[in-house]
Amino acid sequence: MMDVKERIIAELTAARDRSFGLTVGALDDPELTSQVSPLMSPLVWDLAHIGNYEEQWLLRAAAGATAIRADIDDIYDAFEHPRAERPSLPLLTPAESRAYITTVRDQVIDSLEKVPFAGALAGDGFVYHMVIQHEHQHDETMLATHQLRKGAPALLDPPGPSPAAGTCEPEVLIPGGPFLMGTTDDPWAYDNERPGHWVEVPSFHLDTTPVGNAAYAAFVEAGGYRDRRWWHPKGWEWRSSSGKEAPGFWHREGGQWLRRRLGRVEPVPMDEPVQHVNWYEADAYARWAGRRLPTEAEWEKAASWDPVAERKRRLPWGDAGEADDHANLGQRLLHPAPLGSYPEGASAYGVRQLIGDVWEWTSTGFDGYPGFRSFPYKEYSEVFFGGDYKVLKGGSWATHALSGRATFRNWDYPIRRQIFAGFRCARDA
Ligand code: AVJ
Ligand code: FE
Repeated sequence: MMDVKERIIAELTAARDRSFGLTVGALDDPELTSQVSPLMSPLVWDLAHIGNYEEQWLLRAAAGATAIRADIDDIYDAFEHPRAERPSLPLLTPAESRAYITTVRDQVIDSLEKVPFAGALAGDGFVYHMVIQHEHQHDETMLATHQLRKGAPALLDPPGPSPAAGTCEPEVLIPGGPFLMGTTDDPWAYDNERPGHWVEVPSFHLDTTPVGNAAYAAFVEAGGYRDRRWWHPKGWEWRSSSGKEAPGFWHREGGQWLRRRLGRVEPVPMDEPVQHVNWYEADAYARWAGRRLPTEAEWEKAASWDPVAERKRRLPWGDAGEADDHANLGQRLLHPAPLGSYPEGASAYGVRQLIGDVWEWTSTGFDGYPGFRSFPYKEYSEVFFGGDYKVLKGGSWATHALSGRATFRNWDYPIRRQIFAGFRCARDA
């Protein structure tokens, strides 16, 4: 049995292997330092930002160490510099970034023995968990950058077959009643997942799987993008000004839908969950289908409530520390798994693929739970509350298992579709 600190070293190391694999291990310097889209940072910014965040939280804050590179804090402060302007900053080169974050990491490992796991910040290992998940979140962001870049594939699909599609009822009934939303005691949870609180959720029906490419293509082919009736007014504005008529990275050729995925062009697999749709597209599809998006509370109840034991599960299928082989997480595949995969990963209500595959848009805006207290800094969550952000749940194939939990909350603007997001539909009972 690994103790908490050994576990932390192993997770830090695994996160770093992943970060290097997406940057210095995959692309040359010109690609690492250029910007593929104003929505994304140059990959070399993410790389040094990961180390600077680690220096600030694990060395200066947790271990009380003196700063190594206080002079670069400003460059790697996400709030000082929006993504669009990051290529024009005096960034560390790829080699300097790699050396800097390795120095930070070596000192973190050296200091770990001396830092007491006590107090608000380090108690239960919280600040280490925060930094490990931060690195993995940037790794997912870097995968979105990989998806947007032009040029030959830089990442290899893992060998071996995808899991098989499974058959299941199209939807399940989630009977009304209260459930415990969020968490009070998960040592990996961020501030926005707390405090745990009871929410009354009326009966509703929820799709057993995310919406698939075949169903979404039917909406496209039925003229869904040209019919204002299905669209939120702001969604129609987005649709009209963008001219988009299909999910991101799709195009039609010879009567067939093709997609570009990490530099490869391939037929759209009709049995996979749709991804690279924004909130407005998800909302329009749902209206066309006579359905609606679930609220965040509905989604989380379906994913985590055990109605027989009347208790919350950390994951749809149980409480195992983190998501294991019951879901498509952590770059296990470089795409979503076919609909109905992982039947053993179903929730107590029989809902599948809630964790992994694609982030799922909910109808809920991003806000703090009742009694929310920002911790350890306002810029992780609180500054985004009350804005135009929608909550996404469940993680994608690119999300690390450490963040694949029912209470995890992601958020983005409703027009964004470079993230690995899809959705499932609900309807009132
Ligand atoms: C939770 C994915 C919206 O990328 O902006 C990274 C995560 N916070 N560094 C983001 C995050 C600070 C955040 N999201
Ligand atoms: Fe960050």
